[in-house]
Amino acid sequence: MEAIETILTRKSVRQFSDKEIEEEKIETILKAAMASPSAVNRQPWEFYVVKNKEYKEAIKKAMPFGKFDSPIIIIPCVKESATLPINHDLCYCDLSAASENILLAAHALGLGAVWCAIYPGKDRIKAIKKAINIPLGLTPFSAIYIGYPSEEDKSVIKDKYDIKKVRTI
Ligand SMILES: Cc1cc2nc3c(=O)[nH]c(=O)nc-3n(C[C@H](O)[C@H](O)[C@H](O)COP(=O)(O)O)c2cc1C
Repeated sequence: MEAIETILTRKSVRQFSDKEIEEEKIETILKAAMASPSAVNRQPWEFYVVKNKEYKEAIKKAMPFGKFDSPIIIIPCVKESATLPINHDLCYCDLSAASENILLAAHALGLGAVWCAIYPGKDRIKAIKKAINIPLGLTPFSAIYIGYPSEEDKSVIKDKYDIKKVRTI
């Protein structure tokens, strides 16, 4: 899919079929995530690819607004030892860029995905760490449910372009 078309037609998908995702597609998605820009190129991230049924159930329980059934859940995490010492919070910009690249890559590959927030909820971070035994030094940032959209999927592409939000000076 052409890049601009991919960006303009991405939408959040929350209903998935059982069809497994091909390993090459998962690898492409992870390559896209790690191709993201990051402040001072620190790449302060690691990624969980959750396929295990019990872990997926535990994640769903810990996510108040992210209880979806998908073949995989990717959890981008902040790698605390790789963050910028003088401006730690830039890592959240880096992880946002990586999360968006995951959504776009999934869409370009014919998959659907939805980004569900973990950060900045302290309780949610704690619950997800416990749910999948994330070690000290990694902070879960988002839970991205990915799969082939189901036939019942009702997600729609929204035209959000609004010239009134543009200030050309
Ligand atoms: C930081 C962030 C947090 C989000 N958290 C959730 C969430 O917890 N549950 C959910 O269903 N969608 C979540 N979304 C998806 C948004 O609801 C969705 O992007 C928005 O409604 C616009 O729809 P679209 O993605 O189809 O354009 C989140 C998106 C972002 C960027």
